[in-house]
Amino acid sequence: MLLSPFLTLTFLLFFSSYLPAIFSTPTCSNLVPLRNRTDRISITDFGGVGDGRTLNTKAFREAVYRIEHLRRPGGTVLYVPRGVYLTESFNLTSHMTLFLAAGAVIKATQETGHWPLIAPLPSYGRGRELPGARYISFLHGDGLTDVVITGENGTIDGQGDVWWNMWRKKTLKYTRPHLVEFINSQDILISDVIFKNSPFWNIHPVYCNNVVVRYVTILAPPDSPNTDGIDPDSSSNVCIEDSYISTGDDLVAVKSGWDEYGIAYGRPSSGITIRRLTGSSPFAGIAVGSETSGGVENVLAEHINLFNMGVGIHIKTTKGRGGFIKNITVAHVYVENARQGIKISGGVGGHPDDKYNPNALPVVKGITIRNVWGVKVKQAGLINGLKSSPFTDVCLSVINFHGMKGPRAPPNWQCSDVSGSAYQVNPWPCSQLSNQEHGSCAI
Ligand SMILES: *[C@@H]1O[C@H](CO)[C@@H](O)[C@H](O)[C@H]1NC(C)=O
Ligand SMILES: *[C@@H]1O[C@H](CO)[C@@H](O)[C@H](O)[C@H]1NC(C)=O
Ligand SMILES: *[C@@H]1O[C@H](CO)[C@@H](O)[C@H](O)[C@H]1NC(C)=O
Ligand SMILES: *[C@@H]1O[C@H](CO)[C@@H](O)[C@H](O)[C@H]1NC(C)=O
Repeated sequence: MLLSPFLTLTFLLFFSSYLPAIFSTPTCSNLVPLRNRTDRISITDFGGVGDGRTLNTKAFREAVYRIEHLRRPGGTVLYVPRGVYLTESFNLTSHMTLFLAAGAVIKATQETGHWPLIAPLPSYGRGRELPGARYISFLHGDGLTDVVITGENGTIDGQGDVWWNMWRKKTLKYTRPHLVEFINSQDILISDVIFKNSPFWNIHPVYCNNVVVRYVTILAPPDSPNTDGIDPDSSSNVCIEDSYISTGDDLVAVKSGWDEYGIAYGRPSSGITIRRLTGSSPFAGIAVGSETSGGVENVLAEHINLFNMGVGIHIKTTKGRGGFIKNITVAHVYVENARQGIKISGGVGGHPDDKYNPNALPVVKGITIRNVWGVKVKQAGLINGLKSSPFTDVCLSVINFHGMKGPRAPPNWQCSDVSGSAYQVNPWPCSQLSNQEHGSCAI
């Protein structure tokens, strides 16, 4: 009698501490902590003027120099108040938080004449668009640790239209700049920021470890060339969640280098989580590739909502890439109005030069796609492996695609050089995928 209230209390305490852990939504908030930095400086302390016309390059570079060289314990916050701060590209440094207040805009200059150049990435051997060097990203970080870009949803605006027009007129001299690039860096957190009109890919972590991107909005017009949203590249432990991306190219594309250069560099992307992402694009929603020469493995994408898409899920590679694409899971996807629901292809992507080895064949193995609901989908899927390297262990389960003309117009599949299984897929995919009784995908 005396024990029972005690036991009840113990029971309640036990469950109140464990139930939330069981039922709470997974997040990547623990991967890279949001630092509480006590040293704070404002861009206005360095002469920054947010009138949209004054060039603030000197202010940003001096503020970052101050953070880098004073090295306050716990790092420093660089505060950017409301206003439009025009600037040339600038570098970030370790142990800093770039904080954009509500209404703060960091805007890239459109004077591209003396935009700095940097060396090509070793895993690409050249600029992605053009041989040789490439323009440095608007915000750049190399060899950094513990960097946060956050705030109250201020904007980083690349004013990319001058770059898109150079691309259209074929007057570019070098590969266009990314909006934000981190090279060889770790413990990077990007949250509560709006990215707008990137000249090229928006957010590009390459050779990085521990990167979190959450609560971001990434916007570029659907006809803007190569404005990928987030491209984790030869990086590990990257978590992307709770974001909206609408651009002119793939929303998220996991990569790892290009042909002979990527094979030689040999740095895979692994441990990539993408969840609760909404967006639209004339290209792909969740993509792997096509640059995967260092290998891509252990990718989980879930709870993805896609509207007005080219392809919902696109895994792409080609002969000469080498590398591997292994253990990729994409689950709980809603796709509406798309050219293709799913595409897994061994014939997508160009080559850096003619020195690539056509016998370097990619290995594609263990691709699980489940719980997909598509409406207004022109073609359900296309799975084309390589004759000399068939795709294996491709498992599709609980997938329903409806056609353009109402619910009962299921569009077709096309497959070749692939093996694996399918369970409750409608329309039924291809004879190459065997009917799986229990819906489990053994890898
Ligand atoms: C952050 O640091 C300040 C100053 O030391 C302190 O007052 C505040 O409670 C800290 N906040 C958190 C969330 O740790
Ligand atoms: C920024 O970093 C790049 C590459 O790390 C370097 O080449 C360049 O000189 C730096 N720019 C400035 C303004 O410090
Ligand atoms: C920023 O915007 C995102 C997406 O709309 C939202 O989830 C987040 O709460 C906003 N953050 C702040 C600090 O207002
Ligand atoms: C496959 O990837 C998931 C992450 O998506 C990971 O948790 C799991 O351990 C991986 N499986 C193997 C066999 O490596």
